[in-house]
Amino acid sequence: MDNFLTTNGLDKGTLENLIESAINFKNSRWSIERPIGGRSVALVFFNPSLRTRASMQIGIHELGGNSVVLEPGSTSWTLEHRESVVMDGDKTEHIKEFVQVLERYVSAIGVRTFAALKNWEEERMDPILNAFAKYASVPVINLESAMHHPLQAMADIMTIRENLGKSKKKVLLTWAWHPKPLPMAVPNSFALAAAQFGHDVRIAHPRGFELDEELLNEIELQAEMNGGSVEYSNNINESFDGADVVYAKSWGSKHFYGDRNGDIRERSAYRDKWIVDEPKMAKTKNAVFMHCLPVRRNVIVTDAVIDSPNSIVLDQAENRLHIQKAILTELFK
Ligand code: CP
Repeated sequence: MDNFLTTNGLDKGTLENLIESAINFKNSRWSIERPIGGRSVALVFFNPSLRTRASMQIGIHELGGNSVVLEPGSTSWTLEHRESVVMDGDKTEHIKEFVQVLERYVSAIGVRTFAALKNWEEERMDPILNAFAKYASVPVINLESAMHHPLQAMADIMTIRENLGKSKKKVLLTWAWHPKPLPMAVPNSFALAAAQFGHDVRIAHPRGFELDEELLNEIELQAEMNGGSVEYSNNINESFDGADVVYAKSWGSKHFYGDRNGDIRERSAYRDKWIVDEPKMAKTKNAVFMHCLPVRRNVIVTDAVIDSPNSIVLDQAENRLHIQKAILTELFK
Protein backbone atom coordinates (compact mmCIF):
# COMPACT_ATOMS: atom_id res chain seq x y z
CA MET A 1 0.00 0.00 0.00
CA ASP A 2 1.55 3.35 -1.08
CA ASN A 3 -1.25 5.66 0.08
CA PHE A 4 -4.57 5.19 1.88
CA LEU A 5 -6.99 7.42 -0.04
CA THR A 6 -9.97 5.06 -0.47
CA THR A 7 -10.63 1.35 -0.07
CA ASN A 8 -11.38 1.25 -3.80
CA GLY A 9 -8.63 -0.71 -5.54
CA LEU A 10 -7.56 -2.57 -2.38
CA ASP A 11 -8.13 -6.30 -2.62
CA LYS A 12 -10.17 -8.27 -0.12
CA GLY A 13 -7.05 -9.93 1.35
CA THR A 14 -5.46 -6.56 2.14
CA LEU A 15 -8.67 -5.27 3.71
CA GLU A 16 -9.13 -8.46 5.75
CA ASN A 17 -5.52 -8.26 7.00
CA LEU A 18 -6.08 -4.67 8.13
CA ILE A 19 -9.17 -5.68 10.14
CA GLU A 20 -7.28 -8.61 11.73
CA SER A 21 -4.36 -6.34 12.55
CA ALA A 22 -6.71 -3.75 14.07
CA ILE A 23 -8.30 -6.43 16.27
CA ASN A 24 -4.79 -7.45 17.41
CA PHE A 25 -3.96 -3.82 18.21
CA LYS A 26 -7.20 -3.55 20.19
CA ASN A 27 -6.44 -6.73 22.15
CA SER A 28 -2.89 -5.61 22.98
CA ARG A 29 -3.44 -1.88 23.43
CA TRP A 30 -0.58 -1.36 25.89
CA SER A 31 2.02 -3.64 24.34
CA ILE A 32 5.44 -2.01 24.10
CA GLU A 33 5.85 -2.69 20.39
CA ARG A 34 6.71 0.54 18.58
CA PRO A 35 6.40 -0.29 14.86
CA ILE A 36 6.82 3.30 13.67
CA GLY A 37 9.29 4.27 16.38
CA GLY A 38 10.95 7.63 15.83
CA ARG A 39 8.94 8.60 12.70
CA SER A 40 6.78 11.70 12.44
CA VAL A 41 3.44 12.16 10.68
CA ALA A 42 1.91 15.47 9.60
CA LEU A 43 -1.86 15.76 10.05
CA VAL A 44 -3.27 18.51 7.85
CA PHE A 45 -6.77 19.65 8.84
CA PHE A 46 -8.63 22.05 6.56
CA ASN A 47 -11.78 21.24 8.63
CA PRO A 48 -12.73 20.56 12.26
CA SER A 49 -12.48 17.16 13.91
CA LEU A 50 -12.77 15.41 17.25
CA ARG A 51 -12.42 11.68 16.53
CA THR A 52 -10.04 11.74 13.57
CA ARG A 53 -7.62 14.20 15.11
CA ALA A 54 -7.57 12.68 18.60
CA SER A 55 -7.42 9.06 17.43
CA MET A 56 -4.70 9.77 14.85
CA GLN A 57 -2.50 11.69 17.29
CA ILE A 58 -2.95 9.13 20.05
CA GLY A 59 -2.51 6.18 17.66
CA ILE A 60 0.74 7.61 16.25
CA HIS A 61 1.99 8.17 19.80
CA GLU A 62 1.10 4.61 20.82
CA LEU A 63 2.99 3.27 17.77
CA GLY A 64 6.09 5.13 18.95
CA GLY A 65 5.82 8.03 16.49
CA ASN A 66 5.20 11.75 16.71
CA SER A 67 2.47 13.85 15.07
CA VAL A 68 2.34 17.48 14.03
CA VAL A 69 -1.05 19.09 13.33
CA LEU A 70 -1.30 21.82 10.69
CA GLU A 71 -4.43 23.83 9.91
CA PRO A 72 -4.12 25.70 6.61
CA GLY A 73 -5.60 29.16 6.84
CA SER A 74 -5.41 29.11 10.63
CA THR A 75 -2.19 27.79 12.20
CA SER A 76 -0.45 27.43 8.83
CA TRP A 77 -0.63 29.39 5.54
CA THR A 78 -3.61 29.32 3.20
CA LEU A 79 -2.99 26.79 0.39
CA GLU A 80 -3.46 26.85 -3.38
CA HIS A 81 -3.92 23.45 -5.03
CA ARG A 82 -4.56 24.40 -8.68
CA GLU A 83 -1.73 24.24 -11.20
CA SER A 84 -0.33 27.18 -13.13
CA VAL A 85 -2.43 29.82 -11.39
CA VAL A 86 -1.32 33.37 -10.73
CA MET A 87 -1.41 33.39 -6.94
CA ASP A 88 -2.48 37.00 -6.50
CA GLY A 89 -5.58 36.13 -4.43
CA ASP A 90 -5.93 35.01 -0.82
CA LYS A 91 -3.75 31.85 -1.07
CA THR A 92 -0.22 32.27 0.33
CA GLU A 93 1.51 28.95 -0.38
CA HIS A 94 1.16 26.26 -3.04
CA ILE A 95 0.52 22.66 -2.00
CA LYS A 96 3.59 21.70 -4.06
CA GLU A 97 6.00 23.49 -1.71
CA PHE A 98 3.89 22.70 1.37
CA VAL A 99 4.13 18.96 0.67
CA GLN A 100 7.74 18.96 -0.48
CA VAL A 101 8.86 20.88 2.59
CA LEU A 102 6.82 18.71 4.95
CA GLU A 103 8.22 15.47 3.61
CA ARG A 104 11.73 16.64 4.50
CA TYR A 105 10.45 16.31 8.10
CA VAL A 106 7.81 13.58 8.14
CA SER A 107 7.28 10.02 6.92
CA ALA A 108 3.57 10.33 6.07
CA ILE A 109 0.95 13.03 5.59
CA GLY A 110 -2.72 12.80 6.63
CA VAL A 111 -5.17 15.22 5.02
CA ARG A 112 -8.73 16.25 5.91
CA THR A 113 -10.40 18.32 3.21
CA PHE A 114 -14.20 18.28 3.08
CA ALA A 115 -16.35 19.02 0.05
CA ALA A 116 -17.14 22.72 -0.13
CA LEU A 117 -20.51 21.76 -1.73
CA LYS A 118 -20.02 24.34 -4.46
CA ASN A 119 -19.07 22.53 -7.67
CA TRP A 120 -20.11 18.87 -7.98
CA GLU A 121 -18.14 17.97 -11.11
CA GLU A 122 -14.95 19.42 -9.62
CA GLU A 123 -15.29 18.19 -6.04
CA ARG A 124 -16.26 14.62 -6.97
CA MET A 125 -12.68 14.32 -8.31
CA ASP A 126 -11.19 15.08 -4.85
CA PRO A 127 -8.82 17.76 -6.22
CA ILE A 128 -7.13 18.80 -2.97
CA LEU A 129 -6.49 15.28 -1.68
CA ASN A 130 -5.19 14.26 -5.09
CA ALA A 131 -2.88 17.27 -5.23
CA PHE A 132 -1.29 16.06 -1.97
CA ALA A 133 -0.92 12.54 -3.41
CA LYS A 134 0.53 13.92 -6.64
CA TYR A 135 3.29 15.96 -5.02
CA ALA A 136 4.10 13.67 -2.07
CA SER A 137 6.70 10.94 -2.17
CA VAL A 138 5.67 9.78 1.33
CA PRO A 139 2.34 7.98 1.97
CA VAL A 140 -0.76 10.18 2.03
CA ILE A 141 -3.68 9.17 4.26
CA ASN A 142 -7.22 10.40 3.64
CA LEU A 143 -8.61 11.77 6.91
CA GLU A 144 -11.90 12.55 5.04
CA SER A 145 -12.05 14.15 1.64
CA ALA A 146 -14.89 15.40 -0.52
CA MET A 147 -15.70 11.86 -1.68
CA HIS A 148 -14.26 9.40 0.83
CA HIS A 149 -13.75 8.68 4.52
CA PRO A 150 -12.04 5.28 4.32
CA LEU A 151 -10.68 5.28 7.89
CA GLN A 152 -14.25 5.62 9.17
CA ALA A 153 -15.51 2.92 6.81
CA MET A 154 -12.84 0.44 7.92
CA ALA A 155 -13.63 1.15 11.60
CA ASP A 156 -17.32 0.60 10.78
CA ILE A 157 -16.69 -2.78 9.14
CA MET A 158 -14.54 -3.82 12.11
CA THR A 159 -17.36 -2.77 14.47
CA ILE A 160 -19.99 -4.77 12.57
CA ARG A 161 -17.70 -7.80 12.70
CA GLU A 162 -17.05 -7.44 16.43
CA ASN A 163 -20.72 -7.09 17.27
CA LEU A 164 -22.37 -9.42 14.75
CA GLY A 165 -19.65 -11.80 13.53
CA LYS A 166 -18.02 -12.32 10.14
CA SER A 167 -20.94 -13.64 8.06
CA LYS A 168 -22.72 -11.34 5.65
CA LYS A 169 -25.38 -9.06 7.03
CA LYS A 170 -28.33 -7.05 5.75
CA VAL A 171 -26.95 -3.55 6.05
CA LEU A 172 -29.23 -0.52 5.66
CA LEU A 173 -27.54 2.79 4.88
CA THR A 174 -30.26 5.36 5.39
CA TRP A 175 -30.27 9.08 4.59
CA ALA A 176 -31.67 11.20 7.42
CA TRP A 177 -32.98 14.74 7.50
CA HIS A 178 -30.51 17.39 8.70
CA PRO A 179 -31.03 21.16 8.60
CA LYS A 180 -28.27 21.70 6.05
CA PRO A 181 -26.57 19.76 3.25
CA LEU A 182 -23.56 17.66 4.27
CA PRO A 183 -20.82 15.95 2.21
CA MET A 184 -21.19 12.38 0.91
CA ALA A 185 -17.82 11.02 2.00
CA VAL A 186 -19.13 8.82 4.82
CA PRO A 187 -22.02 7.17 2.94
CA ASN A 188 -19.80 6.69 -0.13
CA SER A 189 -17.03 4.95 1.78
CA PHE A 190 -19.33 2.95 4.04
CA ALA A 191 -21.40 1.57 1.15
CA LEU A 192 -18.24 0.77 -0.81
CA ALA A 193 -16.56 -1.04 2.09
CA ALA A 194 -19.74 -2.93 3.01
CA ALA A 195 -19.92 -4.15 -0.61
CA GLN A 196 -16.21 -5.07 -0.63
CA PHE A 197 -16.80 -7.18 2.50
CA GLY A 198 -19.72 -8.97 0.80
CA HIS A 199 -22.68 -7.60 2.78
CA ASP A 200 -26.18 -7.15 1.36
CA VAL A 201 -26.42 -3.37 1.19
CA ARG A 202 -29.66 -1.39 0.95
CA ILE A 203 -29.28 2.35 0.33
CA ALA A 204 -32.36 4.40 1.27
CA HIS A 205 -32.84 8.08 0.52
CA PRO A 206 -35.52 10.43 -0.82
CA ARG A 207 -35.62 10.90 -4.59
CA GLY A 208 -33.00 13.41 -5.68
CA PHE A 209 -30.45 12.38 -3.03
CA GLU A 210 -28.75 9.64 -5.06
CA LEU A 211 -25.04 9.04 -4.48
CA ASP A 212 -22.45 9.41 -7.25
CA GLU A 213 -23.40 7.24 -10.22
CA GLU A 214 -19.87 6.10 -11.08
CA LEU A 215 -19.23 5.14 -7.45
CA LEU A 216 -22.54 3.26 -7.27
CA ASN A 217 -21.46 1.25 -10.31
CA GLU A 218 -18.27 0.33 -8.45
CA ILE A 219 -20.24 -0.54 -5.29
CA GLU A 220 -22.51 -2.82 -7.33
CA LEU A 221 -19.49 -4.46 -8.97
CA GLN A 222 -17.79 -5.01 -5.61
CA ALA A 223 -20.96 -6.51 -4.12
CA GLU A 224 -21.27 -8.92 -7.04
CA MET A 225 -17.58 -9.91 -6.85
CA ASN A 226 -17.74 -10.52 -3.11
CA GLY A 227 -21.04 -12.39 -2.79
CA GLY A 228 -23.19 -9.48 -1.63
CA SER A 229 -25.87 -7.33 -3.23
CA VAL A 230 -27.01 -3.71 -3.53
CA GLU A 231 -30.56 -2.42 -3.64
CA TYR A 232 -32.12 1.03 -3.41
CA SER A 233 -35.21 2.37 -1.71
CA ASN A 234 -36.99 5.72 -1.55
CA ASN A 235 -39.26 4.45 1.23
CA ILE A 236 -37.95 5.16 4.73
CA ASN A 237 -40.39 2.82 6.46
CA GLU A 238 -40.08 -0.26 4.23
CA SER A 239 -36.30 0.02 4.04
CA PHE A 240 -35.86 -1.02 7.68
CA ASP A 241 -37.53 -4.43 7.18
CA GLY A 242 -35.25 -7.29 8.19
CA ALA A 243 -32.07 -5.19 8.57
CA ASP A 244 -29.24 -6.42 10.83
CA VAL A 245 -27.47 -3.06 10.71
CA VAL A 246 -28.96 0.44 10.45
CA TYR A 247 -26.36 3.07 9.48
CA ALA A 248 -27.76 6.61 9.49
CA LYS A 249 -26.17 9.56 7.71
CA SER A 250 -27.37 12.72 6.08
CA TRP A 251 -25.89 14.06 2.85
CA GLY A 252 -26.53 16.80 0.34
CA SER A 253 -28.12 16.46 -3.07
CA LYS A 254 -25.67 16.64 -5.96
CA HIS A 255 -28.42 18.44 -7.92
CA PHE A 256 -28.19 21.35 -5.47
CA TYR A 257 -24.41 21.70 -5.25
CA GLY A 258 -23.74 25.42 -5.10
CA ASP A 259 -27.38 26.09 -4.13
CA ARG A 260 -27.47 25.56 -0.38
CA ASN A 261 -30.89 27.16 0.06
CA GLY A 262 -32.34 25.08 -2.78
CA ASP A 263 -31.16 21.91 -1.02
CA ILE A 264 -32.57 23.11 2.30
CA ARG A 265 -35.94 23.79 0.66
CA GLU A 266 -35.89 20.39 -1.09
CA ARG A 267 -35.14 18.46 2.09
CA SER A 268 -37.63 20.33 4.27
CA ALA A 269 -40.38 17.86 3.27
CA TYR A 270 -38.45 15.06 4.99
CA ARG A 271 -38.11 16.60 8.45
CA ASP A 272 -39.44 14.25 11.21
CA LYS A 273 -40.02 11.54 8.54
CA TRP A 274 -36.45 10.55 7.64
CA ILE A 275 -35.30 10.03 11.25
CA VAL A 276 -34.21 6.80 12.90
CA ASP A 277 -36.69 6.12 15.71
CA GLU A 278 -38.01 3.17 17.73
CA PRO A 279 -40.97 2.29 15.45
CA LYS A 280 -38.60 1.96 12.48
CA MET A 281 -35.99 0.01 14.47
CA ALA A 282 -38.82 -2.37 15.53
CA LYS A 283 -39.12 -3.45 11.87
CA THR A 284 -35.51 -4.69 11.82
CA LYS A 285 -34.00 -7.98 12.95
CA ASN A 286 -32.97 -6.41 16.28
CA ALA A 287 -30.49 -4.30 14.27
CA VAL A 288 -27.52 -2.46 15.70
CA PHE A 289 -27.60 1.30 15.19
CA MET A 290 -24.55 3.01 13.69
CA HIS A 291 -23.49 6.59 12.96
CA CYS A 292 -20.01 8.01 12.40
CA LEU A 293 -20.60 10.95 14.81
CA PRO A 294 -20.95 13.83 15.39
CA VAL A 295 -24.71 13.36 15.31
CA ARG A 296 -27.61 15.72 15.96
CA ARG A 297 -29.84 13.99 18.52
CA ASN A 298 -33.57 13.93 17.79
CA VAL A 299 -32.83 15.13 14.25
CA ILE A 300 -30.97 12.16 12.71
CA VAL A 301 -31.79 9.67 15.48
CA THR A 302 -33.94 9.78 18.59
CA ASP A 303 -32.45 9.66 22.08
CA ALA A 304 -34.22 6.34 22.64
CA VAL A 305 -32.37 4.68 19.73
CA ILE A 306 -28.90 6.17 20.22
CA ASP A 307 -29.04 5.48 23.96
CA SER A 308 -30.36 1.93 23.50
CA PRO A 309 -28.23 -1.20 24.02
CA ASN A 310 -28.32 -1.70 20.23
CA SER A 311 -26.40 1.51 19.61
CA ILE A 312 -22.74 0.81 18.77
CA VAL A 313 -21.69 4.36 17.89
CA LEU A 314 -19.07 4.48 20.65
CA ASP A 315 -17.51 1.21 19.45
CA GLN A 316 -17.25 2.77 15.97
CA ALA A 317 -15.49 5.80 17.42
CA GLU A 318 -13.11 3.66 19.49
CA ASN A 319 -12.27 1.42 16.55
CA ARG A 320 -10.99 4.43 14.60
CA LEU A 321 -7.93 4.27 16.87
CA HIS A 322 -7.24 0.58 16.29
CA ILE A 323 -7.81 0.46 12.52
CA GLN A 324 -5.67 3.58 12.02
CA LYS A 325 -2.81 1.94 13.93
CA ALA A 326 -3.13 -1.06 11.61
CA ILE A 327 -3.14 1.14 8.49
CA LEU A 328 -0.20 3.30 9.63
CA THR A 329 1.84 0.19 10.43
CA GLU A 330 1.09 -1.24 6.98
CA LEU A 331 2.01 2.04 5.25
CA PHE A 332 5.33 2.20 7.09
CA LYS A 333 6.35 -1.37 6.18
N1 CP B 1 -16.38 10.56 12.38
C1 CP B 1 -15.43 11.51 12.29
O1 CP B 1 -14.63 11.55 11.34
O2 CP B 1 -15.41 12.36 13.35
P1 CP B 1 -14.64 13.75 13.39
O3 CP B 1 -15.23 14.60 12.29
O4 CP B 1 -14.90 14.30 14.77
O5 CP B 1 -13.18 13.50 13.14
